[in-house]
Parts: sequence; C-alpha cells; structure tokens
Amino acid sequence: MATVRLVALKAPLTRHGRWLPRPWAQLRPPNTAVRAFSSVMSPPSTAVVYDEHGPPDTVCKVKELPPVQIKDDDICVRMLAAPINPSDINRIQGVYPVRPPVPAVGGYEGVGEVHYVGSAVKGLSPGDWVIPSPPSSGTWQTYVVRDQNVWHKIEKSTPMEYAASVAVNPLTALRMLEDFVDVKSGDAIVQNGATSIVGQCLIQLARDRGIRSINIIRDRAGSDEAKEKLKNLGADQVFTESQLEVKNVKSLLADIPEPALGFNCVGGNAASMVLKFLKQSGIMVTYGGMSKKPITVSTSSFIFKDLSLRGFWLQKWLSSDKAKESRVMIDYLLSLVREGKLTYEMELVPFNQFQSALDKALGKLGSQPKQIIKF
Ligand SMILES: NC(=O)c1ccc[n+]([C@@H]2O[C@H](COP(=O)([O-])OP(=O)(O)OC[C@H]3O[C@@H](n4cnc5c(N)ncnc54)[C@H](OP(=O)(O)O)[C@@H]3O)[C@@H](O)[C@H]2O)c1
Repeated sequence: MATVRLVALKAPLTRHGRWLPRPWAQLRPPNTAVRAFSSVMSPPSTAVVYDEHGPPDTVCKVKELPPVQIKDDDICVRMLAAPINPSDINRIQGVYPVRPPVPAVGGYEGVGEVHYVGSAVKGLSPGDWVIPSPPSSGTWQTYVVRDQNVWHKIEKSTPMEYAASVAVNPLTALRMLEDFVDVKSGDAIVQNGATSIVGQCLIQLARDRGIRSINIIRDRAGSDEAKEKLKNLGADQVFTESQLEVKNVKSLLADIPEPALGFNCVGGNAASMVLKFLKQSGIMVTYGGMSKKPITVSTSSFIFKDLSLRGFWLQKWLSSDKAKESRVMIDYLLSLVREGKLTYEMELVPFNQFQSALDKALGKLGSQPKQIIKF
C-alpha cells in the first residue's frame, strides 16, 4: 500500500503559512483526518506545452496542467519570469542534441518564488526567490514542482529579468572568457554575434577586466544604433561584416592589440572574419551557429598561423562536476547586475502574449531584444 500522511483538514493554512488548494478538502467533514488522497498538491499550472517536435509557433500550445504531488523533498515554485533562448527553440524543433521527451513543457531557465516547501526541505521558505541551477527543462509554466536540490536561492533585490536569464548566456560568456586563453588586462578579444546576450556579456566582462573587445555584427536595419549600444556597454570597436571586406582587417585595429581569443556565435562568413583578426596561434571558440552556415577555414590559417578551433557547450560543462561551482558564478554575475556592471537588452512580455513573444524570438519581426515571459 502507498505511504500516506495524516492531514488535518481543519487548517486551510499550511505550516508554512501558505494556502494550498486541496480540492478534496471541501468534500470531507471538518475535524477528520484522511489517510488516502492526503498528499499535498500544487496548484494547477498554465504551461507552454509541445506534444511533438516541429516549428515552435505551430506545435506550442498554452494548456492547463493538473496539480502534481509535492513530496517531502520537493519545492513548489511559482514562476515569475523565463526567457526564450535560441536553444529553447531548437529543443522544440527537435534539433537540439539533448531534449526532453515529448510531450514537454518549453523553457530551460527562469526565476520563481517559493510557493510551498515539502516537510523535509531545509534552507528555503515560501517567498524566497530561486532559479533552477543547473538549468532544467520545463520553466515556461506558472508552477514548477522539483526536488529541493534543483533550486538555488538568489537575492530578491535582483531585477527579475536578469535573475530569469543569468544561468545560460551570462554564464556561457564568463566560462568562455576564462577557460580557453589566459587573457589579461591590456589584451584583446574578437567576436561575432556581438548583439546577442552572450556577446553583450562578453563585452562587459572583458571591459571589467581591462580587456579590449573587437565586435562584429551583421548588416541589417538598425545596425548603426546597435553599434552605439554596444559601444555604450564598453565595446572598443564594432564593425558590420561588410565593413570588414578589406584586404587587411588588422589595419582597422588602431591601438588595439591583435587578439589571441575569438568567439563565434554565427558561423559562415562571420566566423571567417573572427579568424582574420586572430593573432598567430590564436583560438576561436564556437558556441553558436545562428546563420546555420558552416565554418570555412583557409589552409594557411592552419599552416602559417597555427590557429586552433574549439567549441563550448554549457550543458556539457555543467554535467561535469561544475554544477555546484556554477552557483557561485551565478551569484557573482548577479552581483555585477546589481552593481550596474552587467546589463543587456530584454523585453518583459506578459504570459498572455506568449505567441507574439515567440514570433519575435523566432526573428519574424526582425532583430528584437531578448524576450522574457513574465508569468
Ligand atoms: N554553446 C553553448 O553552451 C551556448 C550557451 C548559450 C548560448 N548559446 C548560443 O549562443 C547564440 C546566442 O544566444 P543568445 O541567447 O545570446 O542570443 P540572443 O540574445 O537571442 O540574440 C540572437 C543573436 O543572433 C543573431 N542572429 C539571429 N539570426 C541570425 C542570422 N540568421 N545570422 C546571423 N546572426 C543572427 C542576432 O543578431 P541581430 O542582433 O543582428 O538580430 C543576435 O546577435 C545562440 O546560437 C545560442 O544557442 C550557446
């Protein structure tokens, strides 16, 4: 027989001072205890669900999910906000290497407020703000129930949209800046896709360390404005790809030293541009493929320049023994946010406008700020 707990139906408030819907409570006479059906249940959750892989704007549906049991070690979190990242889109499309089985709830990171804690939970209470760390699938919904180990408490003075979006892109930027080349104050880096959140973070994390940045963006409407924004974040140089159609790109560098480290978010021609800037024995780290075009490397880049090509995948990095360490890094990144040293463009969108946020994230309306769903 399943283990049951005795629950006094008299008190509508839990020991944590929070009301939890117990639909069966009204059906029983007061002052009686129940043996069966006595589990604590979450509220129902409104969720973005996909039953099959495919185009996100076709397969994603907003649905009501029934309450789920909150076990002793579980925490029920009322989600506050979650971003739509390119990898979320790839998971839904079914082209990401690791993805949850369908049917699945979208989203991979976000921030929420603790709604209810199971009886064995330590160190977290209702009202605390938490993020799933390492990130995990299923954040695009109003209530998430997971084991206490999943949740990392963060300071409530953190702006919600940053708390929601810190665990993937800013952490990727930090790791890539520190893990491949020992870049120091006075050195330089080069990157394409500089308007991405990762790109914006790289600029600021580099600036904070006295590292100069050379940034490449694509030619598009609003590119002059985008350049100005990146310069305001601390970018030393920003070029559109077409500006780099010159014989010797390094002649454009002025007093910036040749970079030993480059980052590739885009692929195709934009990756070749990064390679052109790199100095002898430099390293290009590929972390995204936004153009969906392959990287082409000249033979001479290998023979005469001895360049190295590397890759970075946060999910793999986190699945090593780094998960605990990553929380310290997240706290550091959020402290930079609170100090005003780390900022990036986002748009908070109410959950009931999810479809239009998704359209923007899919690029249907041209370049848009990062879409953050507010529940
Ligand atoms: N490997 C990892 O562990 C890891 C971790 C985090 C992120 N990523 C990857 O990093 C990339 C950026 O993520 P994010 O969330 O920071 O991006 P984001 O803020 O959503 O911005 C998207 C970026 O992609 C650019 N872009 C969109 N479509 C493009 C196209 N067809 N050709 C060229 N550029 C295009 C945009 O440029 P405009 O401003 O011109 O529109 C913008 O810079 C994604 O590929 C993501 O999957 C990888």
